[in-house]
Amino acid sequence: MTKINENFLLLQAGYLFPEISRRVKVFTTDNPDSAIIKLGIGDVTEPLPPAIVEAMHKAVDEMGSKQGVKGYGPERGYDFLIEKIIKNDFAPRGITLDSSEIFVSDGSKCDTGNFQEVFDTDNVIAVTDPVYPVYVDTNVMAGRGGKADSSGRYADIVYMPVTPDNNFVPELPKEKVDLIYLCYPNNPTGAVASKARLKVWVDYAKKNNAIILFDAAYEAFISDPDIPHSIYEVDGAKEVAVEFRSFSKTAGFTGLRCAYTVVPKQLKAYKKDGSTIDVNAIWNRRHCTKFNGASYISQAAAASVYSDTGKTQIRQTINLYMSNAKLIRESLTALGYEIYGGVNAPYVWLKTKDNMTSWQFFDYLLEKANIVGTPGSGFGSAGEGFFRLSAFGSPDNVIEALQRFKKI
Ligand code: MLT
Repeated sequence: MTKINENFLLLQAGYLFPEISRRVKVFTTDNPDSAIIKLGIGDVTEPLPPAIVEAMHKAVDEMGSKQGVKGYGPERGYDFLIEKIIKNDFAPRGITLDSSEIFVSDGSKCDTGNFQEVFDTDNVIAVTDPVYPVYVDTNVMAGRGGKADSSGRYADIVYMPVTPDNNFVPELPKEKVDLIYLCYPNNPTGAVASKARLKVWVDYAKKNNAIILFDAAYEAFISDPDIPHSIYEVDGAKEVAVEFRSFSKTAGFTGLRCAYTVVPKQLKAYKKDGSTIDVNAIWNRRHCTKFNGASYISQAAAASVYSDTGKTQIRQTINLYMSNAKLIRESLTALGYEIYGGVNAPYVWLKTKDNMTSWQFFDYLLEKANIVGTPGSGFGSAGEGFFRLSAFGSPDNVIEALQRFKKI
């Protein structure tokens, strides 16, 4: 008799984005003439910049030649990419990293979901509420969640509400926690965390022998020069934090796949006997066992992001998305909506109209304006009454969506 991992049975409903797609499909089947505008999932819509396309063409030609063909690459990523990552993403911010501390992968969703695997199942995890659902669901699958209550909160997880009252950066938990997931710029609220607020967390982690799993997938959207792009800008963070970075939103790689995770050599976890062990060595063992490396073509494409032309071109695309965000913020504020985010992040977080629940507002927007957004409650119970709009749509669609908002 083959037994299933019953932790999977504890998961609530479907994963948020497939559930939204399912509802949209039902609606479009019933209303085939509706012109849906999707501002739901944070998925890019602009084409890949020419510098990246060119790098991929070149890589494809190499792969098609006797001299240039590549088989399995290094599991942790090619040196040509890792060197550029360190030189461009960290060195200018005064952060020194060794190439052995960078792990290139095919996406931050996988990395943030997989990383928990190297920690014991009896660690207590803490997440913000609302939160990117991958952190929670992967821990539930591993057995760290326990049962969910009627609001969808799991008994064994510590939830830290992020609301307008705390500027969407959580207070320290009252309980002792071991693994803390933080995402700044934040998905879904679009908020950012100052260096001082991150320092509070680094200090907490040091004091409690905890580890911070810091998701910085949206750092490229920061425009405020005082906001840190990396948790390692905080002194001592290398001793307590893993950082996840992605080319998905930065450079339009959602359909191409390339990301990386930083696991500093100073980062320690504990064995049952109380002695320490290097997390880098354990993650390296796990990564090289379960992963054969991101494709050469994706990594060549990622390396081109750091060329002068690549940098200019990706900045143009980021600026385009951020002007969408500005337009959404300004237009909806003028219509009387309470708006957050959208300044240093590509997500706008708004209070629903007339106290509708998040899903009521989802249905209302879908039916009355044929606009798809993401219900805040899908990210956690503290997201109830909120709604997320993504700025990754095409400018024409964003303008059209805002016209429709005016009419309803
Ligand atoms: C989101 O919309 O929250 C993200 O695009 C999902 C993801 O990055 O996996």
